[in-house]
Amino acid sequence: MTKPKVFITRAIPDQGLDILNESCDTEVWPKELPPNRNELLKNVTGMEGLLSLLTDKMDAELMDAAGDQLKVISNFAVGYDNIDISAATKRGILVTNTPGVLTETTADLAFALLMSAARRIVEGMDYVRSGHWQVWEPKLLLGNDIHQKTLGIIGLGRIGRAVARRASGFNMKVLYYNHTGRNKKDEEVGALYCDTIDEVLKNSDFISLHVPLSPETHHLIDSPAFSKMKKTAILINTSRGSVVNSDALHKALDKGEIAYAALDVTDPEPLPGDHKLLKLPNCLVVPHIGSATVATRGLMAVMAAENLLTGLRGEVPKYLVNREVVNRI
Ligand code: NDP
Ligand code: DGY
Repeated sequence: MTKPKVFITRAIPDQGLDILNESCDTEVWPKELPPNRNELLKNVTGMEGLLSLLTDKMDAELMDAAGDQLKVISNFAVGYDNIDISAATKRGILVTNTPGVLTETTADLAFALLMSAARRIVEGMDYVRSGHWQVWEPKLLLGNDIHQKTLGIIGLGRIGRAVARRASGFNMKVLYYNHTGRNKKDEEVGALYCDTIDEVLKNSDFISLHVPLSPETHHLIDSPAFSKMKKTAILINTSRGSVVNSDALHKALDKGEIAYAALDVTDPEPLPGDHKLLKLPNCLVVPHIGSATVATRGLMAVMAAENLLTGLRGEVPKYLVNREVVNRI
């Protein structure tokens, strides 16, 4: 029996590759940098399955370039804003993602960023490394307390709740806003629902973003949002870069409208080394490493591979994003 042809847009951890190699005719993009648009369009041609990364734009043009035999796009991420879901559904293509396996790991990073920003960890390291450390000083690198402060969570889903659980260990008060109203699971994590996002912005010492990127959340945090935050507020973003307007963020940090930002995701992404945000002392940036642990990336690889195989067998994958496609295939 001929094996289904599958294109994997970058090398993923072996646990996932091994599963696919067993039952598919796999092609893995061999280079360190991702395929450019033309290379991507060329490589998807004739494939039945694609294993994509969040950096690969999977739109109608690409689906048409692949051809009518394309059955499944399996995204190696929980976020799927890189995929045109309605174009896929229209063409009867299953789209899958990797929810859950990365929740705790991403929440760990969000909390690490929160703590690093509050206690000025990176500035401290720079200070020591540059040879400035001469003596213990009463007023050196004074930061902010974390315990008993208020954390505002925008989007109390899987990762938002995992962050709220971490906050309870620090005796923090947790406020949250969700666009569809009160989340029934908020009591589990002791979070208090606010009717408006403004209420969260006004009353929080830390604001952590956990919404998916959508037309509704694009630039959700813009100049008006910054003007509502406390001057001492610390913003943490591990969602998607363009949930925050980078120019407005730069202005807010530069003018002291808020105190600090700690970002795992940026707009643009990657952030060029000479970007103006990197020139600010009160902006901490790491390169989209929220789910980057050995164990979690392995689990994501297995989940993405299994999603792909299930769809290729003509079954409904467990982590299907576009349920409505099932009636079309
Ligand atoms: P979930 O779907 O579990 O949670 C998202 C939450 O956001 C839901 O509660 C949802 O509410 C809410 N929400 C959606 N739109 C809005 C809005 N406009 N205003 C307020 N709340 C809103 O997703 P996860 O927690 O698993 O992941 C969240 C996002 O985190 C991903 O989409 C991805 O972009 C990002 N991510 C980043 C990682 C990194 O490496 N930095 C790693 C993993 C994820 P409802 O369910 O009611 O629609
Ligand atoms: C996701 O899963 O959406 C992250 O951004 C990468 O793990």
